[in-house]
Amino acid sequence: MSYREEVMQAVDHIKNKIDTQPKIGIVLGSGLGEVVEGIEDKTVIPYSNIPGFPVSTVKGHAGNLVFGKLEGKDVAAMQGRFHFYEGHPISKVVFGVRVMGLLGINTLIVTNAAGGINASLKPGDLMVIKDHINFAGENPAIGEEIPEFGPRFFDMTYAYDPELIETAKRVYEKNKVAYKEGVYAFLKGPSYETPAEIKMLSIIGADAVGMSTVPEVIAARQMNIKVFGISCITNMAAGISKNKLSHQEVIETSERVKKDFIKIISGAVAE
Ligand code: 6GU
Repeated sequence: MSYREEVMQAVDHIKNKIDTQPKIGIVLGSGLGEVVEGIEDKTVIPYSNIPGFPVSTVKGHAGNLVFGKLEGKDVAAMQGRFHFYEGHPISKVVFGVRVMGLLGINTLIVTNAAGGINASLKPGDLMVIKDHINFAGENPAIGEEIPEFGPRFFDMTYAYDPELIETAKRVYEKNKVAYKEGVYAFLKGPSYETPAEIKMLSIIGADAVGMSTVPEVIAARQMNIKVFGISCITNMAAGISKNKLSHQEVIETSERVKKDFIKIISGAVAE
């Protein structure tokens, strides 16, 4: 079966199980999956039940596609995502976004856990992503042209929608969460970076670094879906912090700021 057919098959499977028309898609990163608890009239579809859907293997990532209402809006939420470092090809890393795109979402909210590079960030900050640097040498739009997934060449000037960013500023203010914004750099991982690599990323303009999100954003922009992104700064990157980096710290920080995170995501959806 071709990749296009695989995505179509997953879409048909899901359409038979839901009676809503999600307009907003949400991708929930490490430790951030609990946003789905605010979703009402839920239909939960485990990834393992959807033909062609990859299954995530990372601790802190459940593997469900959740449909329902958040703040009265029909949403589709991916509780758990797919990373390169799990060994998935890039076509599978963006599989869920393609599926949500064909289900008709016009807006995608992407979230992740990231290391802070800019010294004005601190663990627990929720950084709005204003732009990204794809430092992985990979692109989900490479390969056969598939018209349903969008054009061969597409603009990335406003990859992160300026209006959604303006809306987010109001949501942060309303919820008394410190507003931070910055540039997210994507590396494949799974090793965290060295201090020299972090220094390089700082020089080229990155404020935070992580192992996800950029493939999904590229796939979404190819489908002309508006994107809003938030990085939960879970730790400072190597050489910025004196501490060794651990996945445990990533999970602990995302636990700690979960309440604020849920407020911001819900507030953004509401607006
Ligand atoms: Cl410091 N680096 C990367 N690549 N991903 C991370 C991180 C750092 N902290 C959380 N996720």
